[in-house]
Amino acid sequence: MRIQARKNQQPDFGTYHHSTPRSSEKTREKVKIVFTKVFGDLPFSRDDKLKILDVGCGLGFLSCVCAEYYQNAKVTGFDTFEHGSLKDSSLAKAKNNAKILGFQERVRFQKGDLFSSDYSKGKFDLFVSSLVFHNLGRKRFDAYERLAYWIMSKSYIVLGDLFFDYKLDLRRLASLFGTVEKKPSFNIGRQYKLLILSEPKK
Ligand SMILES: C[S@@+](CC[C@H](N)C(=O)[O-])C[C@H]1O[C@@H](n2cnc3c(N)ncnc32)[C@H](O)[C@@H]1O
Repeated sequence: MRIQARKNQQPDFGTYHHSTPRSSEKTREKVKIVFTKVFGDLPFSRDDKLKILDVGCGLGFLSCVCAEYYQNAKVTGFDTFEHGSLKDSSLAKAKNNAKILGFQERVRFQKGDLFSSDYSKGKFDLFVSSLVFHNLGRKRFDAYERLAYWIMSKSYIVLGDLFFDYKLDLRRLASLFGTVEKKPSFNIGRQYKLLILSEPKK
């Protein structure tokens, strides 16, 4: 599966903090592989007209992975575009990346803060996020609660992140979601875990 970029243009999904352009790119290659594998395990078909929310989308990397895999999906990515964890990020650059990859009709981006936005009415089938929550320190627990509030009973969350205190996070997540399933996330780094969350306990 290969995304066809517009002639002579390549998307730039940015450099993560504590990383280099090359190593950020390498990380994304691996993240794309594991997310794509997990998508194959979800009870959706690739041509379903899904509504997908990318939480902390940055420059749109994971939004575009979703749009490539789910070919009729509409993807919304939101981000503050202000956090130091992704250098020189902006809404305009994210939009341009989707345009370069030909996804501008199905992928849209907006400015939004996890803690003050309400996506509970969006009826999203699938939520995705990568490398966002660990940046929030202990506030990540409030952020998990927001996710649990936003999802519907038949929605899924695919969450990839660094977990520095995995057991603690797992306990919190298990108190918010009926199902927390860990999937293999080989090679990305010891602390990177990929989880499928579903069945919100409301
Ligand atoms: C390391 S980047 C990852 C970006 C993207 N998910 C990816 O995998 O390339 C972390 C992102 O989380 C975003 N972020 C941090 N706090 C946020 C918040 N409160 N609301 C929305 N996004 C946030 C940052 O702006 C940044 O773009």
